[in-house]
Amino acid sequence: MLNALKQKLTNYWNLMKNKTIITYGTFDMFHIGHLNLLKRLKALGDELIVGVSTDEFNKIKGKKTLIPYDQRAEIIASIKYVDKVIAEENWEQKKLDIEKYNCDVFAIGNDWEGKFDFLKDYCEVIYMERTKGVSTSELKNSLNSFLSISKKDLEIAFSIIEKLRTDLN
Ligand code: CTP
Repeated sequence: MLNALKQKLTNYWNLMKNKTIITYGTFDMFHIGHLNLLKRLKALGDELIVGVSTDEFNKIKGKKTLIPYDQRAEIIASIKYVDKVIAEENWEQKKLDIEKYNCDVFAIGNDWEGKFDFLKDYCEVIYMERTKGVSTSELKNSLNSFLSISKKDLEIAFSIIEKLRTDLN
């Protein structure tokens, strides 16, 4: 009887309480996949906290960023779905952050499927479907292939543009 009442009160409290979601990521070269994720995360609850990986932590992860941490954090903080930005500095902090900010849900893209199941002892863990066809790696690859065009090919392209300019005038 007492247990049933306790359960009812817990359920009621969980329904009434603000739900806090936490996620982590590098968010380099901010793109539509990032925006979609943040929008869908915010829709899961009331408050969205984003841990943005610092440049030092990215080095540990073997990731080289184009945009420095301060700018990536500022961009994320200005997104209307985001309530708070914290620095992600190591692999171990997630459990502490979940406790510190009283988070109800840890969520991340499904490229991390199964990797954070150990956090289920502390909160709900959700792997979100990624937006197809876009990623920072692909953007970097496109940039790299553009930058690897040879001087000779660029000179040919410029001479064609020059010819078009004179022909069209
Ligand atoms: N993400 C997503 N859809 C995408 C790209 C990323 O939902 N198309 C999510 C990731 O799953 C992650 C968060 O956005 O939860 C931040 O991912 P991040 O690694 O910073 O972005 P990526 O574009 O995946 O970068 P990379 O290619 O360097 O892994």
